[in-house]
Amino acid sequence: MPEAGIRAGIVGLGSYVPERVLTNRELETMVNTTDQWIVDRSGIRERRIAGPGQVTSDLALEAARRALEDAGIGPAEVDLIIVATNTSDTVFPGVGCIVQDRLGAVKAGAFDLVAGCTGFIYAFSVAAQFITSGVYRHVLVIGAEILSRIVDWQDRNTCVLFGDGAGAVVLGRVPEGYGLVHSKLGSDGSGGPALCLPAGGSRLPASAQTVAERQHFIHMNGREVFKFAVRACGAGSLEALEEAGLSVAEVDFLIPHQANIRIIEAAAKRLNLPMERVLVNVDRYGNTSTASIPIALEEAVGQNRIKDGDTMLLTGFGAGLTWAVAILKWYDYRNAR
Ligand code: ACO
Repeated sequence: MPEAGIRAGIVGLGSYVPERVLTNRELETMVNTTDQWIVDRSGIRERRIAGPGQVTSDLALEAARRALEDAGIGPAEVDLIIVATNTSDTVFPGVGCIVQDRLGAVKAGAFDLVAGCTGFIYAFSVAAQFITSGVYRHVLVIGAEILSRIVDWQDRNTCVLFGDGAGAVVLGRVPEGYGLVHSKLGSDGSGGPALCLPAGGSRLPASAQTVAERQHFIHMNGREVFKFAVRACGAGSLEALEEAGLSVAEVDFLIPHQANIRIIEAAAKRLNLPMERVLVNVDRYGNTSTASIPIALEEAVGQNRIKDGDTMLLTGFGAGLTWAVAILKWYDYRNAR
């Protein structure tokens, strides 16, 4: 039965990035690029790369364990696991079920959600519905990627941009006045071809030809995605704030998907937010897709940058093309216990 007045918010955070650091200097030896070009055009200086034996569920599991520990709950208390990913261990089953098993989350349902890099905000919004409706107490939301396995290391247009990592949050009940205030999900499927992995699905099953044509890697029209990202994140954020009855002046932190510093700066400019109020770590991790927002959030909370009651605006964009916004009132669960 739905229960009135339940608020859904973050009550646990965890992240994991692989140890191996790949710098721009190293990339200079792999493709025709320069550290200067990468920094100027994307703001990225280095990224993490998963080890040869690691798969996406390994990263997801570690982030999940840390989030549960932070939340002070055991795996048996998790009701549902949603993993946002574009780089599942295998086409199916999904990462969620693997994490559910390895975590020992014996009573949890589990599924994966694919919405490009926007997947984390999509999954977060879905999870919140299960909390506010009173159906579940704890939902584990994970963004996890090993993009290094699907980038074409011969394509300088894409291989310099992405990195591997995972971030996880536990969503639970938070006191009145805290938690998710509003979310808004958007999609423009007409832009799908601008960012896709063409082969390996029902349209182009794997064959010797698809492999020879390098169709199993990310294909991207960077300029199209760039324009979409700035437009969608700027306009979407303003719409979401208006629907929530909030002004930009009331936003304490913007937590954007970390794809490119120029996209982040353009979105901040549209919102008229100074960069001191924008969380940025794209320089150290590159674009980790669904993992980028929870990794940035975990870092900022760990550094005590975010205070109880702060209003946070999460924005993302990605393959689909999709975009999403979530507005949160931060509940300082770490100091509330
Ligand atoms: N090193 C050197 N030169 C390069 C490199 C490189 N690594 N990559 C591209 N270039 C060249 C191009 O070939 C081009 O040369 P040309 O003019 O002779 O053809 C030139 O640099 C400029 O290329 P542009 O595409 O105009 O560069 P732009 O300023 O648009 O920056 C970038 C490119 C960084 C890809 C940018 O468009 C971008 O960030 N787009 C958004 C991408 C993104 O965020 N994707 C992830 C989406 S999230 C998800 O769901 C996965």
